[in-house]
Amino acid sequence: TAGQRTAQQPAAKDATRNATPNAAGGVCGTLDTLLVEERVFRPLPRVMAEATVNPQDAAHARRRAEQDWLGFWEEAADELQWFRKWETVLDDAEPPFYRWFAGARCNIVHNALDRHIETVNKNRLALIWEGEPGDTRKLTYFELYREVNRFANVLRGMGVRKGDMVLIYMPSLPETAIAMLATVKIGAIHSVVFAGFSSGGLADRIVDARPRIIVTVDGFYRNGRVIALKPLVDDAISHCRRAAQDRGEASADAGIEQVVVVHRAHLDVAMKDGRDHWWHDVMLHQPSEALTEVMDATDPLFVLYTSGTTGKPKGIVHSHGGYMVGVHRTLNWVFDLKPTDIFWCTADPGWITGHSYAIYGPLMAGTTTLLYEGHPLYPEAGRLWSMVERWGVTILYTVPTLIRMLMRFGTQYPARHDLTTLRLLGTVGEPISPEAWVWFHKNIGRGQCPLLDTWWQTETGMIMIAPLPVSLLKPGSVTRPMPGIEADVVDAKGNSLPPRTGGYLVIKRPWPAMMNTVFNDRQAYESMYWSQFPGWYFPGDVARKDDDGYIWIQGRADDVIMIAGHRVGTAELEAALASHPAVAECGVIGVPDDIRGEVAKAFVVLHDDVPPIGGFVQAEDLESELMEHVRRELGPVAVLRGVEFRTQLPKNRSGKIMRRILRAEELGEDTGDTSTLEEEPFYLR
Ligand code: WT7
Repeated sequence: TAGQRTAQQPAAKDATRNATPNAAGGVCGTLDTLLVEERVFRPLPRVMAEATVNPQDAAHARRRAEQDWLGFWEEAADELQWFRKWETVLDDAEPPFYRWFAGARCNIVHNALDRHIETVNKNRLALIWEGEPGDTRKLTYFELYREVNRFANVLRGMGVRKGDMVLIYMPSLPETAIAMLATVKIGAIHSVVFAGFSSGGLADRIVDARPRIIVTVDGFYRNGRVIALKPLVDDAISHCRRAAQDRGEASADAGIEQVVVVHRAHLDVAMKDGRDHWWHDVMLHQPSEALTEVMDATDPLFVLYTSGTTGKPKGIVHSHGGYMVGVHRTLNWVFDLKPTDIFWCTADPGWITGHSYAIYGPLMAGTTTLLYEGHPLYPEAGRLWSMVERWGVTILYTVPTLIRMLMRFGTQYPARHDLTTLRLLGTVGEPISPEAWVWFHKNIGRGQCPLLDTWWQTETGMIMIAPLPVSLLKPGSVTRPMPGIEADVVDAKGNSLPPRTGGYLVIKRPWPAMMNTVFNDRQAYESMYWSQFPGWYFPGDVARKDDDGYIWIQGRADDVIMIAGHRVGTAELEAALASHPAVAECGVIGVPDDIRGEVAKAFVVLHDDVPPIGGFVQAEDLESELMEHVRRELGPVAVLRGVEFRTQLPKNRSGKIMRRILRAEELGEDTGDTSTLEEEPFYLR
């Protein structure tokens, strides 16, 4: 009932929040700040005592990074092994095509795997995997090393050479990690395509990436069903073949020479003679040693297509040296890894978070990473908590969309499980509303685990703005740039903005794990990221700082509403709505208004225990209550005109709400390309 819910979620309003529309409103290139969150969380003595990087170390690192920025990153690089050291830490002769650790030789797989075999890590658990039906597998570093070597030999046997592209179209399986590492071990480049994409999405990526080999799976388990994947590969290949024929090019199988299929779901799939092979067949009798290719630090490591909500997917290119340094340093600092940790990053390996912090990062750190195949609500809403309890997870890194979804089920699910092994929590992917932050912190972290909200992108490769476990935390803020990262909030002309004024987030210096280019499109790399503010990287987000220099991400620059000359981020309106106890999820868009130019309209999914609209709750009553609530939270600038109640919101496959679709529906326009819309509740990112 509503009464119980209030008791479980007292955080809905336990601090004063002042609406302070600021004076700079209306100035072009700045954003009004409406939401003021005043709760702060200080690290507990236990956290202070355990921390590898204590506040003094952090302050020292910041000073060091300011005084000798390249020396700072050089030190980070010295924590890893290199076949040959760099001639220069950063070659910036041709910006924005920066070349980190130019002249160095390395291979990230040497650091993620090979070197552990010489140490006590050899027989420690590298990877724990749980399938959706409940089957499990565990691999020690030595076991993973040998599997990777065997698959590396398979690929070499198929003629894959340094610089070739291997496309991996797989869900979260041990073989996904094995295929990625084996590809990189022999100097080839992987492009992992998320298994939630359709054959059309796969075909687009095949056309752009031009792989010689595809590694896939017969099918996998998802939300109690078996999803067939191999047939989608066949569809995508025939689609590419037809498109090539239309262009008058003859291309048998679109350049795909071999397809390796992991046997996962016991499906009877069509196998083309000479082209398609079962994983277990080709792995038979392969030697368990394989040479690791010596790469230039600047050689490409992988291409990952970003699931942009509009336009064609862009292939983001990362390379060995810089990426390994950036990921290694940030994982160790933000998540303060210990030898005893069980690290669970819930992201699918098909996303950058999965690449950096479910696979490469944890393995470089020599820790144990947990992978899960299936749906987070299967067979019921306690699946995650049951996994945390059974595996003794110590660090849980996940996404706000999942937290919001789990909040809808209340606290009874987490309450049934022992979550006391958890010591750190993290989120990434979109702004987390203070309400979701506090819920996660309190009900999952027992109020004792620092909750680290990490801002970064596919393009940045590594965490850029985030607290450390010892930082003072403010719910909803990503806090400060990592030591070594220089970020700022500026107006359209590039002037640094004072606190409490929203504007464009920019990164003022290169960083090691930065993307190198857009695959096949150097020009797009320059124009999309480096042309708005010459010399600086523009990630496309809007943000503000507070008086302590803490950064608050307000959303994407294209998700900004202009209400009566005030530029308001949708994220703030959504956070305000989410702080109402009836609201489970919401999306806010701008709609035209005769007087104000634009006003906000909200689409709201209610908590499961709110009586259905049309029942004994009057939609109009709740609507005016929510409009009043937003006004109270954010002040008179935040004009919300209309709330529409929905049972679900359109999201892309990674769980981000597609405001573009809501807007098009609202304005009666064509909804455009909806191919990235998810059909299921959502996938983990
Ligand atoms: C965009 C990048 C990095 C892995 C997942 C997303 C948004 C990311 C946060 C955060 C607010 C965030 C930004 C960014 N974003 N982290 N902690 N708070 N917003 O990767 O698909 O490349 O998306 O996600 O808008 O630009 P991605």
